[in-house]
Amino acid sequence: MKVTIVGAGAVGASCAEYIAIKDFASEIVLLDIKEGVAEGKAMDLMQTATLNGFDSKIVGSTNDYSKTAGSDVVVITSGIPRKPGMTREELIGINANIVKEVSSNLIKHSPDTIVIVVSNPMDTMTYLVHKTTGLPKNRIIGMGGALDSARFKYRLSEALECPPSDVDGMVIGGHSDTGMVPLTRLATRNSVPVKAFLSEDRLNQVAEDTKVGGATLTKLLGTSAWYAPGAAVSAMVQAIACDQKKMFPCSALLEGEFGLNDLCIGVPSILGKDGLEKIVEIQLDEAETAKIKESAEGVKKTNALLEL
Ligand code: NAI
Repeated sequence: MKVTIVGAGAVGASCAEYIAIKDFASEIVLLDIKEGVAEGKAMDLMQTATLNGFDSKIVGSTNDYSKTAGSDVVVITSGIPRKPGMTREELIGINANIVKEVSSNLIKHSPDTIVIVVSNPMDTMTYLVHKTTGLPKNRIIGMGGALDSARFKYRLSEALECPPSDVDGMVIGGHSDTGMVPLTRLATRNSVPVKAFLSEDRLNQVAEDTKVGGATLTKLLGTSAWYAPGAAVSAMVQAIACDQKKMFPCSALLEGEFGLNDLCIGVPSILGKDGLEKIVEIQLDEAETAKIKESAEGVKKTNALLEL
């Protein structure tokens, strides 16, 4: 399994590190436009191999796409991150040009690859890749919900005062402060609905804290987060590489699912060797349906800013 990560910045490097530590990839290529950065990070990471006990080979490249040839999975993290006070949507102008160019270069060298889009505004960038590359829809997947769900589970475990691994839950909808739909109704602690333990007010607070999870970190760090984003991407790549048939909320191109059409937005998806193998149409109640429709309208407004 060969994985390429474009953008050797904070998220790209974190993603490479987690993939290497899990040791399921034979080769990881880190590519960046900044001279020497990808080579430097690849070398630094390779020097952790004997310490962390992995055999994956990590290769750095300054914009030489021939090194990415034959990748099974490519991850796009190139682009600018937000600063405190910015929305993800404000990044569209610069990032759309970068994502378009990078995805076209990647596909030239790896026509059969599966693409995971991370750059923000992620749902719109995923839609852009669908519109400009013509790859089949199962091979273009946006990463947002896997991260938002991990943040939701963390916030739930805090409220429940229990280990995060006892908690299960999912965030669907757009990957934005207003678009996320944390499914509090379906969240569980050791299979028991969390509603049994938490008041409605507390659950609403957890949902709100989840939605601004990225903004909270951006304020603390002065830039956006990287550990949890890198871990979320690596879990998705592993599900594909190891054909795990695991469910993550992913930004998928919808053609009628959940009553939505012609946009990419976070929905429960099964990831396996063929990429996004199935969208799982879970039953939403009236309030959840209204929220995902509203979220979709927000994503469509951002999509309308694309020059397609
Ligand atoms: P960063 O600034 O640390 O890294 C971005 C890297 O992309 C830089 O090293 C830069 O040189 C490189 N780059 C820019 N243009 C390029 C091009 N044309 N070709 C190759 N490389 C290029 O930023 P960070 O924090 O890693 O974030 C990357 C992106 O991921 C941002 O758009 C951010 O908003 C997004 N993000 C998305 C998340 C999600 O859940 N979908 C979570 C966290 C970040």
